[in-house]
This record gives sequence, structure tokens and C-alpha cells, in this order.
Amino acid sequence: YTSADLNWRDKSSRSSVEMDDPTSRPAIIDDLKNLAEYDTVYLGFPIWWNQAPRLINTFLEKYDLSGKTVIPFATSGSSSISNAESELRKAYPDVNWQKGKLMNGVTEEDIKNWTKK
Ligand SMILES: Cc1cc2nc3c(=O)[nH]c(=O)nc-3n(C[C@H](O)[C@H](O)[C@H](O)COP(=O)(O)O)c2cc1C
Repeated sequence: YTSADLNWRDKSSRSSVEMDDPTSRPAIIDDLKNLAEYDTVYLGFPIWWNQAPRLINTFLEKYDLSGKTVIPFATSGSSSISNAESELRKAYPDVNWQKGKLMNGVTEEDIKNWTKK
């Protein structure tokens, strides 16, 4: 995404168009080949319009994460992760969602302690 794509003030920017359309599923270029080796997946994204970017929906629909433990984490300007998190839980109920974390201002030490938990 270019900075023009990310211009939330422009209604016709790529991010605005995608987030205006709940069915938008932007393609993922890279292929993840070894997801089967993982039981736990940390899923990180920036909060866009109080939600996860549609690319995250593409990811969750492209790969079979049912039965895997998925732990969301996010950065934001100020919004919490809770709306994004509850929308993901509702849309993908076969995933074993664990409590997410907003990473704004956290230290490396915080992250170490959190992942140990
Ligand atoms: C299209 C767009 C929408 C955004 N919407 C929100 C929002 O609803 N709430 C919020 O707190 N921040 C919002 N932001 C700010 C981003 O969450 C923030 O820039 C990002 O988490 C910072 O990550 P980065 O340093 O990797 O760019 C938005 C940013 C963009 C580009």
C-alpha cells in the first residue's frame, strides 16, 4: 500500500474503497507454504476504521486456520483492538481465538512476558 492508498481522508483511496466494501478481499501475493507446521499463529495488523484491514479477511479465508489457536495483535492511532477482535471472532468461529493485544507503546519486555503467558 502506497501512502496515497493509505489516505483515509480520500474517499477514493485504495484503503477507503476496500474498507467501504465488507466483501472486498485484496489478494495476497506471497504464498504461505508451511502453516500446517504451526498450531499457534500470531496475527498482526494495523487498525483501519476500527477494524482489521480486509487483507486480514483474505488471509483467514485463504488459509485453513480452523482448530488453530490465533492470537490477534494490532497497532492503532488510538482505537482499541476490541471491535476488530470481536468482528474476527464472529466471522471466523472455527478458529480458536485467544485474547488479542493492542501493541501501542509496548516494550520488547512487555511482548516477551505476553508471549510467555
Ligand atoms: C486507512 C486507515 C484507517 C485508520 N483507521 C484508524 C482507526 O479507526 N483508529 C485508529 O486508532 N487508527 C487508525 N489508523 C491509524 C493506524 O492504525 C496506524 O497508522 C497504524 O496502526 C500504525 O502502524 P504503522 O506504524 O505500521 O503504520 C488508520 C490508518 C489508516 C491508514
